[in-house]
Amino acid sequence: METVRVSDIANHIGREAVIQGWVYNRTDKGKLCFLLVRDGSGFIQCVAFKDDLSPELFDQIMRIPQESSVIISGTVREDKRAPGIPGGYEIGIKDLQIVQAAQADYPMALKDHGVDFALDHRHLWIRMQSQWAILRVRATVMAATREWLDGNGFIAMDTPILTPAAAEGTTTLFETDYFDEGKAYLAQTGQLYNEANIFSFGRVYCFGPTFRAEKSKTRRHLTEFWMLEPEMAFCDLDCLMDIEEKMIVHILSRVLRDRLPELKSLGRDISKLENIKAPFPRISYDQAAAKLADLYSKETDSEKKELLKFDWGIDFGAPHETALTGLYAQPVFVYGYPTAVKAFYMEPWPDRPEVCKSVDLLAPEGYGEICGGSERISDHDLLLKRIHEQNLPEDAFTWYLQLRRYGSVPHSGFGMGVERVVSWICGIEHIREAIPFPRTIKRVYP
Ligand code: 4AD
Ligand code: MG
Repeated sequence: METVRVSDIANHIGREAVIQGWVYNRTDKGKLCFLLVRDGSGFIQCVAFKDDLSPELFDQIMRIPQESSVIISGTVREDKRAPGIPGGYEIGIKDLQIVQAAQADYPMALKDHGVDFALDHRHLWIRMQSQWAILRVRATVMAATREWLDGNGFIAMDTPILTPAAAEGTTTLFETDYFDEGKAYLAQTGQLYNEANIFSFGRVYCFGPTFRAEKSKTRRHLTEFWMLEPEMAFCDLDCLMDIEEKMIVHILSRVLRDRLPELKSLGRDISKLENIKAPFPRISYDQAAAKLADLYSKETDSEKKELLKFDWGIDFGAPHETALTGLYAQPVFVYGYPTAVKAFYMEPWPDRPEVCKSVDLLAPEGYGEICGGSERISDHDLLLKRIHEQNLPEDAFTWYLQLRRYGSVPHSGFGMGVERVVSWICGIEHIREAIPFPRTIKRVYP
């Protein structure tokens, strides 16, 4: 008999098959016992009918503990009512072998657990259908991202994780001793190295973990998160937004093609994702500020009004982004942020140095910033001035400054936060569920 994965079950209707997996749930109805079995690729209902099995085997199935590992053989049937992912199929059990009977005290039994308890048991929580679905979407988001970049002239270049200096602000650095060389820091971004790489490869991307020793406890922040960072030579701000838009549209279409059952199982309103189409609106920071002022003046709830308070020059907080994205069904680009709130390397706006050629992409439904990017300063002296203004160690940036001496060109890039994108696509409340083992200020276990 052929061993089959649940994801492939539709190709085996009417045939005998073997499934290897774990018992997710069990319900009994007189002579029938239903096991919901998961095998990593999906969930399928397996039905034991008393009259078809030996009394010993039926009895064993009736008492099988949740999470026991099993090998089941039986006949694959189509049944519209059968639960599961993809769902609509079941296996009539002919034989069942228990590989290991799980202990009866499984901590993550199928009921509501407090968040801290669930996080303490993340190593088991990831087995739960909702978590499995989210992390499957995550894998597809990452694959689709690479697929689009690899298919559009980008070269993957890995950038170092141990770095000599801050690149995204000095307040969020994880520091470590580095032999006789002094201090090293965990990378907050691979961007600066990407900027070196474009002068050899034109269009590059790095995709890896990045670290922020951020004291934020919001539902959007992790201290270790995965960032995708493309960087392009001969590319200005408009070119940058075109690329972001195409890539995001591709990611969505792949997820909608390959992960629909997962999204449905999460209760996601699929139509909201299906309706996303290029072009995304592009508004300036000034226009966004005016919209916020308008929303502020119209807000009647005093608590909400307080949160919407806004003066030109500040960076947007989560409530501002949420309010802004509420105005659009599409993701929205906000460009031209105040120079003072953005990183040192951003190209100033021509004739208006108080704003810079930065752009954030805000996801709808209140999700807010999923990508942050900019055109980079290409002039050597201006970049040096900015490094001094921000009290960054010039020595650590010698190599970075040299890039502006030998064939400097206008260039741009952005970073996409994988967990932010996954949170939005899955419609989940908190970013910690969008990564297998989340790291936050309060958590490095398990
Ligand atoms: O806006 P950020 O800080 O931009 C950079 O680091 C640039 N150097 C990227 C570049 O231009 N190559 O971060 C980029 C994205 C954000 O838009 C957000 O999606 C995500 O990374 N991000 C976080 N995600 C989770 N937890 C955090 N603490 C995050 N900080 C940023
Ligand atoms: Mg940002």
